Amino acid sequence: MRSLCILGSTGSIGTQTLEVVRHFPKEFRVVALTCGGNISLLAEQIKEFAPSYVSVSTDEKRKELLSMLPSDTFVEVLCADEGNIACATLPEVDCVVAAMVGMRGLPSVVAAIREGKDIALANKETLVSGGSVVMPLIREKNVALLPVDSEHSAIWQCLTGQPEKSLKRILLTASGGPFRGYSREQLEKVTLEAALAHPTWKMGGKITIDSASMMNKGLEIIEASWLFDVPVDSIEVVVHPQSIVHSMIELSDGSVLGQMGFPNMMMPIQVALMYPARSECICRPFSPFDEKACNLTFERVDRNVFRLVDMAYYAGRKGGTLPVAMNAANEVVVADFLSGRASFLDIEKTVEAVMEKHEAEGVITTPSLDDIFAVDAWARAAAAEMRK
Ligand SMILES: NC(=O)c1ccc[n+]([C@@H]2O[C@H](COP(=O)([O-])OP(=O)(O)OC[C@H]3O[C@@H](n4cnc5c(N)ncnc54)[C@H](OP(=O)(O)O)[C@@H]3O)[C@@H](O)[C@H]2O)c1
Repeated sequence: MRSLCILGSTGSIGTQTLEVVRHFPKEFRVVALTCGGNISLLAEQIKEFAPSYVSVSTDEKRKELLSMLPSDTFVEVLCADEGNIACATLPEVDCVVAAMVGMRGLPSVVAAIREGKDIALANKETLVSGGSVVMPLIREKNVALLPVDSEHSAIWQCLTGQPEKSLKRILLTASGGPFRGYSREQLEKVTLEAALAHPTWKMGGKITIDSASMMNKGLEIIEASWLFDVPVDSIEVVVHPQSIVHSMIELSDGSVLGQMGFPNMMMPIQVALMYPARSECICRPFSPFDEKACNLTFERVDRNVFRLVDMAYYAGRKGGTLPVAMNAANEVVVADFLSGRASFLDIEKTVEAVMEKHEAEGVITTPSLDDIFAVDAWARAAAAEMRK
């Protein structure tokens, strides 16, 4: 039985992780759950999964949650980043599911690795910003970093059993999002509602906007570069609107392997949590004859329209703290877009301007964890200033 801490249990990945747990009650025990402000859902999760510890974003939310719980509930309620860290480092936890959104997840992921926990990683911002610290720590502590992002799960599954150094190229698939085929002029006028209408995946707000702007693919290029130890230029983005092939790898002899399935995040979550075992299928079984799967198409991403893809390649190539600044600026301006305070193209404008400013002031090439947090805070302030 694997004991889990789920950081971000009320979100899209968090709730689907709990759905996987529901299917396999003998395999998993939920020890700790954390969330931001959705305490009514957390209260339901406490009732169903009986974790020993939970954590919420603020002390106010902590008190509110305590007042909602029946008096015979045995759970320790913590709050803030310290609460997330305490949950992620509990001695009884074997595996931490990093399903929080944003680089805010980095301190608890780092703390968990230091305590020897395996990490099932959905929270890509953690690797984009903290890869230079997280990856050496993973090796030092000899813990497993289990990819949950569907593309990275696909690549990981295809790579399993391949000889070292045989990977030539990663073909990272992308649905293309709701604005595939749009011109720059069309992008100028898109609404929040249209950006939130993802054609194939149902996800949290921030990643849905990242998918519409293609920044999600940019973040994933850098995430894949860290996970599979390849330069960003060996990763090619392939727009595949059906989201059936979750990614492919090309090996040195020219052989190309892909992993397929109907789009459903429960599959990569299950693969990560069960690793190295393979359990029974809990998602809709694949059929190549299904109308959604029998016409698969692939095209190049239009980098002149979706400029964030090139910005991410550039940040990944340059490395150091440039991806930290890029990610922080994106988090700030996407939050503004979600609350109606920015236009869609403000996203790339802000990211580009913050990256330029950071380069002008000096990228730190081999940052410490403190450098990463400092540049993240600097870039958030710079982006917020530009957004005024
Ligand atoms: N959704 C997908 O299909 C998918 C696929 C691949 C990768 N990912 C990645 O997985 C991560 C999560 O995505 P998501 O779509 O699940 O996001 P989401 O639905 O927005 O959920 C985010 C979670 O983070 C929690 N959270 C926010 N602030 C917090 C804080 N201060 N302390 C603790 N928890 C906090 C939220 O709690 P509240 O709800 O209480 O605010 C929620 O549980 C992202 O990095 C995303 O890129 C997602």
